[in-house]
Amino acid sequence: MDDLKKKKISPKFSLLLEKLNKASEKKQMSLLLDHPWDEPIEGVWLKKRENIAIYGTRYYDMASEEERRLLSVYETGAWWYTFIVFENLVSEYYMKIINHGTLKKFPDVVTYMHHFCKEEIVHAMVFRKAMTHFKITPFPIALNLREIYSHNAAMSEFPLKAVYLTILIEWLAENNAMEDCNDKGISVLSRAIAVEHHKEEARHIEWGKNMIREFIDIVPEFIKEAQEITAPMIRSMLDMAVSSLVVYARVGFENRAFRDYNQLITTVVNSENRKKINAVIIAPMMRYFVELGICDPENAENMKIWKENGFEEDVKEAVEYFKRKTDKDLDIDNVMNKNYN
Ligand SMILES: [Fe+2]
Ligand SMILES: [Fe+2]
Repeated sequence: MDDLKKKKISPKFSLLLEKLNKASEKKQMSLLLDHPWDEPIEGVWLKKRENIAIYGTRYYDMASEEERRLLSVYETGAWWYTFIVFENLVSEYYMKIINHGTLKKFPDVVTYMHHFCKEEIVHAMVFRKAMTHFKITPFPIALNLREIYSHNAAMSEFPLKAVYLTILIEWLAENNAMEDCNDKGISVLSRAIAVEHHKEEARHIEWGKNMIREFIDIVPEFIKEAQEITAPMIRSMLDMAVSSLVVYARVGFENRAFRDYNQLITTVVNSENRKKINAVIIAPMMRYFVELGICDPENAENMKIWKENGFEEDVKEAVEYFKRKTDKDLDIDNVMNKNYN
């Protein structure tokens, strides 16, 4: 950790921290004021039809219109609940890092982490309120989120891996949410929950991405480990989004075909529609992995992991992107540059 003692933050990262801290001071999400909480709940879709798990498969035709709508409610509710658990864990863990003093040499980083934690606490309250509003009760959590912070981040070390795992979840979840809600036909409240959340999450994600860029050299073992764990983790998160048995059980489909869960899950996970959605979610993340060498197309051992987890095409796309990229394409995939309002 001697390198950490000598470490000076780059001007580029300093500038970003200043911008992030100002943005968080200027406007933060309000539990009471930023969402249309009076929206009635009857008959609303919480995500768009094209993104429910069964869309584009034979199961879609076997379901009634009300069952499809309920699927949109419970799939969204399952994500909201995942957000609640994750946001509780991350704010607790980041506060612990702040209090431990690991990052005290970098006061602007610490200031932003304070904003980050406060924002996550409010997000979790908003998601909880949304679940209550739509009468959705909690779900079991498919990913073992708890282990992310308990196994992977000893307090004495620089918390780079924990920051990295945090952005993997935040970035994938955000891309997913923005895809799901990018439609005027869905509940105004559900859309507001996604869009308002995104405004603050975009900052969290850019902060995390740049923490890794900035401190990657401080933790020499980081890159090798990231090369090993990223693809399986991304795969499990993508598949988790469409394979919750509790979600299907709650909808309570009439048609008996829905009771063969193995068949159902295999079909939705591998559907062409889902592959298309996944490709959109993953594209900017893959470019980041290639940029940092977390995905290394020249390294056969590493490519084996990406291929085994079904990302061969996504890697190719990213590599092609960098071949086309010119020096004018600066700051690519900055999440904060997207406007979903
Ligand atoms: Fe959040
Ligand atoms: Fe966040």
